[in-house]
Amino acid sequence: MNIILLGPPGAGKGTQARKLVEERGMVQLSTGDMLRAARTSGTDMGNKVAAIMDAGELVTDEIVIGLIEEQLTTTTAPGGFIFDGFPRTLGQADALGELLAKVGQTLDTVVEMAVDDDALVKRISGRFTCGSCGEVYHSETKRPAKEDACDECGENNFKHRADDNEVSLRVRLLEYYKKTSPLIGYYYAKDLLQSINGLDTMDGVAASISKALDG
Ligand code: AP5
Repeated sequence: MNIILLGPPGAGKGTQARKLVEERGMVQLSTGDMLRAARTSGTDMGNKVAAIMDAGELVTDEIVIGLIEEQLTTTTAPGGFIFDGFPRTLGQADALGELLAKVGQTLDTVVEMAVDDDALVKRISGRFTCGSCGEVYHSETKRPAKEDACDECGENNFKHRADDNEVSLRVRLLEYYKKTSPLIGYYYAKDLLQSINGLDTMDGVAASISKALDG
């Protein structure tokens, strides 16, 4: 089963994708994670996208489509792919359909995680991640059991993202409403859209996603 988790910044896409990987053996394809890996590796592409990401703007379709194409043609995913943060424009959505067809696969469902802007600001401002394994935490809703060790890998390497500040969050939200939210109609028209309440607790959201996937 290949699915898209669609939602604004901070909706909980990464949190839920990691759960699905653990529980269903799916493969998470996060363009945000791929771009962050590229910028720390100091490649030309990484340097090019760093300033764009920090400002909260979208990088070009060409770059992210290239990243997804590389993964789709080199990765096997018996449990299916979770597209997290991709597609984000209508051009990316068309490209995803073509890429999946090229590798003999289809898109099964698009889960829209609906969250209001006040909750997004709270979620983004409290977020921190483990720089070693990528586990996502929150200062109020998901703290590690021990203050100085990641629950998953035990490392003490917590980080705040450079784009998790008020100014770039405002830009990220605008980008979402202008360029990404039209995908809700796009996938509704293709009869692939299922909307869930992203304001629920993490377990509540996970249960709604399971219901959407299992029917
Ligand atoms: P990306 O990394 O994709 O960021 P995003 O879409 O802004 O999403 P986030 O990672 O901020 O949020 P999330 O929905 O994953 O929430 P999370 O689970 O962490 O993209 C970053 C940048 O890269 C973009 O701005 C752009 O520049 C570029 N980019 C990436 N993809 C691109 C593309 N396709 N095209 C062009 N450019 C692209 O949760 C947030 C917090 O809330 C956490 O602290 C978590 O613990 C907490 N939380 C989660 N769920 C709940 C809950 N139910 N209740 C309470 N707290 C919760």
